[in-house]
Amino acid sequence: MRKSRERIPEIRAVLGDARKMPSIAPASVHLVVTSPPYPMIPQWDEQFGAWGAHGFDAMHARLAEVWRSCRDALVPGGILAINVGDALRSIDGEFRLWPNHVRVTLACEALGLRSLPYILWKKPTNRPNAFLGSGFLPPNAYVTLDCEFILLFRKGSPRRFPPRDDARYASRYTKPERDIWFSQVWSVRGARQDGVARRTGAFPPEIPERLIRMFSVTGETVLDPFAGTGTTLWAAARLRRNAIGVEIDPERYEALVRRIPAERVATSRSRAGAPSLR
Ligand SMILES: C[S@@+](CC[C@H](N)C(=O)[O-])C[C@H]1O[C@@H](n2cnc3c(N)ncnc32)[C@H](O)[C@@H]1O
Repeated sequence: MRKSRERIPEIRAVLGDARKMPSIAPASVHLVVTSPPYPMIPQWDEQFGAWGAHGFDAMHARLAEVWRSCRDALVPGGILAINVGDALRSIDGEFRLWPNHVRVTLACEALGLRSLPYILWKKPTNRPNAFLGSGFLPPNAYVTLDCEFILLFRKGSPRRFPPRDDARYASRYTKPERDIWFSQVWSVRGARQDGVARRTGAFPPEIPERLIRMFSVTGETVLDPFAGTGTTLWAAARLRRNAIGVEIDPERYEALVRRIPAERVATSRSRAGAPSLR
C-alpha cells in the first residue's frame, strides 16, 4: 500500500508567458485549473493586442498555444479544466455571440485531448436579468448570457492507481459532495471584483476547490497558467496539493507573490526560465 506523503505543499509563482512555460517539466502536472482572458470581452482586448491577436481566430490561436503547453505539462490521464464564458459583442455593426467554449473545445481536441462532460456555471444574482430586446415583443430579443463553461479534457486514458492507494483514499469526497459536484449545472456566486481581485476576472475559491478535489489527489501538482490573483494556487495549497502559477503581468505577479504565506507553504518566486524551477 502506498503511503500518503505528508509533505508541506509548495507554491511556485512564475512571471512569464504561459505559451512557453519553459520551466515546467513535461508530464509533471496532474491537474490544470484555469480561466484565460476571454476573447471578445473588451476587458482583455489590450492583452490580446499585446500578443498581436486582433480577431476572434487570432485570439484563439494564441490561447491554443497555452493549451498545447498544458497538454505537454500534464501526466498521462491528467485533466485540463478551463473556465471560459462566451461573449456578446458588436463588430462592424453586427451584434452576435462569440462562442469561446466552442473554439476552446475544438483547439483542445485538435491537440489530442479528450472532451469530457462539461459544467455550466450559473452565478445566482439578485439583480433582474440583463434582458436585451424590446419589451415583450417577438422575435428580436436575445436569451440572457448567464452561464459560463467549465470545460473538461483528459490527456489520454484515465489514470490508474495501486489498490487501496492511501493518498487517493485520503482524498475521497462524500456522497453529498459528489451529488452536487458531478451534476452539470453549478450554482456558485461569483467572486467580488474588489481589493486584490479588482477587475482581474478572478473566480471564487469554491470553483478551483471543487475541481481540485474532484480531479486530483493530495500531494499532487496543480497548474494555473493564467494565475491572476492566485485563487487556484491558494485553493491547491489549502487542499494539500502543490501549485504552480504563471502570470504575465508584472503588477499582478507582484500582488500574487506578496500573498504567498511564508509559513506552512514552501515558496519559490521565480521568473520563467530561472534555474530554481524544475
Ligand atoms: C481571467 S484572469 C485569471 C483570474 C484567476 N483565475 C483568478 O482567480 O485570479 C487571466 C489572467 O491571465 C493573465 N495572462 C494573460 N496572458 C497570459 C500569458 N500569456 N501567460 C500568463 N498569464 C497570462 C492575465 O494577466 C490575467 O491575470
